Amino acid sequence: CLSSIIAPSALASDFGKLASECQRVLDDGADWLHMDVMDGHFVPNITMGAPVLEWVKKAIPDIKMDCHMMVANPIQWVEPVAKAGGYQYTFHYEATDDHLAVIKEIKKHGMRAAIALNPSTPASVLSDELISQLDMVLVMTVWPGKGGQKFMAEQMPKLKELRTKYAKLDLQVDGGVGPATIDQCTQNGANVAVAGTAVFGAKDVKQAISDMRQSINT
Ligand code: DX5
Ligand code: ZN
Repeated sequence: CLSSIIAPSALASDFGKLASECQRVLDDGADWLHMDVMDGHFVPNITMGAPVLEWVKKAIPDIKMDCHMMVANPIQWVEPVAKAGGYQYTFHYEATDDHLAVIKEIKKHGMRAAIALNPSTPASVLSDELISQLDMVLVMTVWPGKGGQKFMAEQMPKLKELRTKYAKLDLQVDGGVGPATIDQCTQNGANVAVAGTAVFGAKDVKQAISDMRQSINT
């Protein structure tokens, strides 16, 4: 049976105190921390890279950093992110032609491997062979690049298609996800929820996380 995972996105936290922000949501029930790495090429913004991840890992040794790599050359950052203590490495399908090579590199460095699909990328690009090498697929529910965007409900059929084909694969949703939108994600097969604004912007973080967990457990 799949586990239900809540991964708050650190992108919505106060970067001036990044590690304590991560600790705060872990104390309030988060499972993983979703770390949005943007390189200014795959997406226009620049956020953080391996050195910052390393400082967070040093501050919180048992943290599971779910690294969402919005980068143009995903293979380049596998080793630095692994050395920084990355737990899972999610790269974009759109960013490379040699997906198996990137996955092989991720596995070689001891991380979980995942592929993210942009809103315009259909589930059908993922072959059974590719899926068999992956620990998770991320179905983007916004265009990658920034936090606080509106949830795209039109991505739900893609999620459902993947869940119907792959009963045991971890399926993650990212973008505009929170207590108000989590139910449709769960109903369509997601078991891993990323939430930035909905967690870090919540009056009661513990409540927001437990609301989402309740939905994902049903
Ligand atoms: C978007 C990032 C998301 C984002 C989510 O490029 O991949 O992880 O931070 O933020 P919210 O939950 O605010 O949409
Ligand atoms: Zn993300």
